[in-house]
Amino acid sequence: MNNQLPQQPEAKTWSQRFERALHPAIEEFNASIGFDIELIEYDLNGSGAHAKMLARTGIISAAEKSQLLAGLEQIRSEYRQGKFQPGIDAEDVHLAVERRLTEIAGDVGKKLHTARSRNDQVGTDTRLYLRDQIEQIRTQLRQFQEVLLDLAEVHVETLIPGYTHLQRAQPLSLAHHLMAYFEMAQRDWERLGDVWKRVNISPLGCGALAGTTFPIDRQYTAEELGFASVYGNSLDGVSDRDFAVEFCCSASLIMVHLSRLSEEIILWASREFGFVTLSDRCATGSSIMPQKKNPDVPELVRGKTGRVFGHLQALLVLMKGLPMAYNKDLQEDKEALFDSVKTLKACLQAMTILLREGIEFRTERLEKAVASDFSNATDVADYLAARGVPFREAYNLVGKAVKTSLAAGKLLPDLSLEEWKALHPAFESDIYQAIAPRQVVAARNSYGGTGFEQVRKAIQAGRDRLATVSGG
Ligand code: ARG
Repeated sequence: MNNQLPQQPEAKTWSQRFERALHPAIEEFNASIGFDIELIEYDLNGSGAHAKMLARTGIISAAEKSQLLAGLEQIRSEYRQGKFQPGIDAEDVHLAVERRLTEIAGDVGKKLHTARSRNDQVGTDTRLYLRDQIEQIRTQLRQFQEVLLDLAEVHVETLIPGYTHLQRAQPLSLAHHLMAYFEMAQRDWERLGDVWKRVNISPLGCGALAGTTFPIDRQYTAEELGFASVYGNSLDGVSDRDFAVEFCCSASLIMVHLSRLSEEIILWASREFGFVTLSDRCATGSSIMPQKKNPDVPELVRGKTGRVFGHLQALLVLMKGLPMAYNKDLQEDKEALFDSVKTLKACLQAMTILLREGIEFRTERLEKAVASDFSNATDVADYLAARGVPFREAYNLVGKAVKTSLAAGKLLPDLSLEEWKALHPAFESDIYQAIAPRQVVAARNSYGGTGFEQVRKAIQAGRDRLATVSGG
């Protein structure tokens, strides 16, 4: 075995058919090694399974298989030690590995590519990569959900103004507000599980586009690599990137959810809202204004959302005009995919840390906030409606009460019982209790509502979901 790393760049794998060397700028333009090195471990795994299959089907000998496998493992350890750094001349990760394998194992290295094309190879690698990444992202989503549950548990009885149209609407349990994000993350987790199923199909053995003349065993390589099934049409197998689009779509939705939460935290941290303070662990200062503490983390998450949407758009446009089957355009899928994965993972991690130790709810201010507005007006109407007054009539009466109170600089609890009775004789002294913010929240005990009892049930249901294996 030759253990020396190459000193001189070699001729291209495919260069025999060509008379002149590639223009250096074109060589660089064409190469994907700068980014697809990210796939190397998956490429080694895919190649290992392929080598085993070649031996099983008698296409190569058992001894040759062993040499190939040993060579592939040597490349893996060289890579992990930072010793395998192929240059631009290697073109892509697949050719870089094959070239190094041939240096290590000699001529037998040249047998690895029997009954295979880089077209089915790259599809295999990309799917193996994404399958792994989806598993990691789903674990991160679980951690995010756990932090939301922990926070919700602490804040069942903390009140926060609820908004529609960014106008104060009805008070809420803060836990209910947080649990809305738990539900979004649950859908994200499920959706990625669904995408995973379509990622987990093997294109290996589709060849360049039409299959192969060798007696290969596609089921075997699929099983070796943990794929649930194989593509049934070789053209589709080598050119399908639906799974990448679906992933970017799911990633975009996760970013939508993280960005919405970010926007809320940014608002809450403002002096105008003053609902949270940012801890020093996750906030930064201004280089010129000494009083400032900036919500950089949620701002960055909100900002990074755009690039993930961009990658989704890029993939859709990439695919829309492609004739069958493989086209080099497909090399462009990788950076979009890799950056989506990296951005998403970084944002999920940052938001989880932010929720865990980066923000503190200012419960007293929240308490005051819900007591200083007309967000209990619906409850006055409901009070009358429960006593037989048609809701629309009750609604109009309360509208009047809000108008006169506003003019007098009062809130609804400031009205005297005489004033209430003047509005409608059905009012009794229990109106004060009915419109106290805590009661207003507690009373919304319909399924899925903000009533404390419902919220506690929702948190428990969330915990149960995380505890079950399927998590559905
Ligand atoms: N680097 C290529 C890609 O990322 C690998 C497949 C190349 N296939 C080919 N026939 N040139 O898509």
